[in-house]
Amino acid sequence: MFMFRFLLAAIAIYATPVIADEATWVADARKVAGAMPSKLLGVLKEETEKGGPESAIGVCRDKAPQMAKAASEQSGWNIRRVSLRNRNPKAVPDTWERAVLEEFDRRAAAGENPATLEKSELVADGENKIQRYMKALPTQDLCLACHGAADSLKPAVSEQLRKLYPDDKATGYGIADIRGAITLKKTTR
Ligand code: HEC
Repeated sequence: MFMFRFLLAAIAIYATPVIADEATWVADARKVAGAMPSKLLGVLKEETEKGGPESAIGVCRDKAPQMAKAASEQSGWNIRRVSLRNRNPKAVPDTWERAVLEEFDRRAAAGENPATLEKSELVADGENKIQRYMKALPTQDLCLACHGAADSLKPAVSEQLRKLYPDDKATGYGIADIRGAITLKKTTR
């Protein structure tokens, strides 16, 4: 009995820090990732109301990467946006991100709410471990002005997109489709 208690205590001592540690980094990633889309949405809405979607293209083009950079510097996470059908040629997912985006699409198709889809994993990388976190970015009505069916976009929007993104794959979405994801990573020992 004593041995059993001792064993339990030992397990508790060894197990707790690992669980607490993982919960901490996941919670931190979730908080950082969760703050960005709502900030961006506010700016997008404001700019669209002022000058239509054609004048808000700069928000998704400049403000989003700026916000990601500022949040990266502040939080220590490497943050970017990726998509299976990217607009920015650099927003191509890596192997882990591609698998997660495909999983998000499957989970949404099976009925999960796309707004709550997230994934975290501690990935081994040689001597290091990489903390990885992704959160799905589903479309809303507002997004379709620039990501909806190609023939539904305002000509002024199509024209700018053609000029800025000749290889654009990011049209043809409907409401609550997964447009892409915000992806965070941090290397630890
Ligand atoms: C006013 C036009 C416009 C609206 C509205 C808009 N986007 Fe975008 N979106 C863009 C542009 C332009 C880019 C490319 C940005 C860049 O160059 O990094 C982009 C890129 C993205 C990316 C990065 C991946 C990629 O394909 O390059 C995601 C994710 C994204 N948008 C999601 C959304 C979501 C979700 C909404 C609605 C909440 C939305 N966008 C609304 C124009 C728009």
